[in-house]
Amino acid sequence: MRTPLRFITRSCKTVGSWQQGAFLTPFPTQCRIRRTSSDVCKEEKSYVTTPIFYVNASPHLGHLYSALLADCMHRYKLLRGFNSRFATGTDEHGLKIQQAADAAGEDPLTFCTGVSQSFRRLFSSCSVSFTDYIRTTEERHRRAVEHFWCTLRDKGLIYKGSYEGWYSTPDESFLTSTQVADTVDTTGQAVKVSLESGHKVEWLKEENYMFRLSAFRTPLLDWLQKSPDAIQPERFRQDVLQWLQDDLPDLSVSRQRSRLQWGIPVPGDPDHTVYVWLDALVNYLTVVGYPDDHNQWWNVTRHIVGKDILKFHAIYWPAFLLGAGLPPPRRIHAHSHWTVSGTKMSKSLGNVVDPFACSRAFTADGLRYFLLRRGVPDSDCDYTDHKVAKLLNAELADSLGGLLNRCAAPALNPTQTYPPFCPPSFPSEWDGRAVPEDYRMLDAVQSLPTSVERHYESLHVHKALEDIASCVRQTNGFVQRHAPWKLNGKDSGDRRWLDAIVHVSLECLRIYGTLLQPVVPQVADKLLSRLGVGADERKWTDLDFLPSYRGKDCPFRGRTLGPDTGVLFNRLESPSGDKQKPKKIKKQIISRQTN
Ligand code: ME8
Ligand code: MG
Repeated sequence: MRTPLRFITRSCKTVGSWQQGAFLTPFPTQCRIRRTSSDVCKEEKSYVTTPIFYVNASPHLGHLYSALLADCMHRYKLLRGFNSRFATGTDEHGLKIQQAADAAGEDPLTFCTGVSQSFRRLFSSCSVSFTDYIRTTEERHRRAVEHFWCTLRDKGLIYKGSYEGWYSTPDESFLTSTQVADTVDTTGQAVKVSLESGHKVEWLKEENYMFRLSAFRTPLLDWLQKSPDAIQPERFRQDVLQWLQDDLPDLSVSRQRSRLQWGIPVPGDPDHTVYVWLDALVNYLTVVGYPDDHNQWWNVTRHIVGKDILKFHAIYWPAFLLGAGLPPPRRIHAHSHWTVSGTKMSKSLGNVVDPFACSRAFTADGLRYFLLRRGVPDSDCDYTDHKVAKLLNAELADSLGGLLNRCAAPALNPTQTYPPFCPPSFPSEWDGRAVPEDYRMLDAVQSLPTSVERHYESLHVHKALEDIASCVRQTNGFVQRHAPWKLNGKDSGDRRWLDAIVHVSLECLRIYGTLLQPVVPQVADKLLSRLGVGADERKWTDLDFLPSYRGKDCPFRGRTLGPDTGVLFNRLESPSGDKQKPKKIKKQIISRQTN
């Protein structure tokens, strides 16, 4: 879905003698020109989802992380001119919720409504700009599940059978004997646990409806072969391929009503309740209007999920979809986990970090930046408050904020405008002030949108932020190297060079601000507003870097800077030499259930 680039050729005089790259000659022979906004097909669509979260307990930082990845993708797609939808919500049925409501002494719906609202509150307080919020207790969802069930049933893919095996309620998951292990619980009693999650399992013997999952091994393998990018990152695709080598038994897709009342009754058989995972997965279709109106969105679906629920999304869900005559999701982005002292943060374990407290302490954008900069989809990351403060001080307050402060402060910018860029001053043909590192910096910034685009597309947001941070460091190096505060404003050569340095730095900042919008919307807005960049000049198509350098008009030249001279990002109370730790965020035990 990358916008193709057109190349135009300019004939020009070559002055510099450095290596290849747009800025390694003063007037590059090849300039990358992006498609104009009118070229972008307005009708291109994007549909991104998070898992819908269980409401057995309040949200924690791990949930927020999935929502931020999806939010980043959605905001990025909007910047690219897409018609984008972003759905999140809550998973409210099943035994686990029934037990949690019982334990809280509330009726299930009241209980679910309370916790679902706290997810919504969290998302709003962290600028998670979802377009759709779904609760599985809604009527529209019941209709979608019933229709989906009847479609599978009518195709002969659901039959009544007898299920006997292990069940993990915290995971709402059926397990084979090879997926469980013996251990002892905290009271010293012998128990069986799920090998994957460590949660306790119990033996279950019931008459259930079964789905013919075993018939889907070949169709699933075909799908993965035809769509090698369907599951990302690659290591998770390998996991799925490996699972498909194992036994793929038929799957129980109902529970007896006597055991589980809190759920959607099986159509035509009120003695059974639809299995919560079948119910939950259908939410992605409900959101886009299934069964009446889903086609225009369904073929552009991307699911973002934690690795803990990859099997449900990459095996069960595509099998259900294929069975119902629908295509599997276009892409599944799996991500790893946030841990605390090396252990997965989880409601059931009660070792969670409270995201409300974090966003109050570090600001919403600060928390967003940390989670997306340090969260690596391929591997688990350990959370500490100290790491957050250290990163934010270094990259948002000092590096990015410091650069803006330098270039916009009256000392270097007395006219409070985007100063002119005089092409001969960079390089200065008469006194050669620009040095090879400067051209390398310009080249890095010139190619930054392309690399950031690649990383946003593949949801390697941490890599996009690494590239941006590296460019910010290089621009600071550029300013530091030339110490413009030492120049004599009364000398016309010095004046021109000073203006060129400030112009180039502001152009760099404009690119960083534009690219950072999906990650830190408020900070980016503050930055771009200070630069005087209008709300309609912040799209991907506006990323034409330093046009003056190529002899083109720069729309910002002479522009008055915005009036907000406040600090871009306040430094956090932080350790000096790592001795004094920043204020501790309370680790709340917010689990409301006992298992
Ligand atoms: O599984 N680190 O809901 P859930 C990173 N309702 N992400 C984490 C995390 C952590 N420590 N802990 C949780 C369910 N997550 C089902 C989903 S979808 C049709 C039904 C995130 O409340 C991550 O995305 O247990 C994980 O997959 C999800 O929350 C599980 O949330
Ligand atoms: Mg879970």
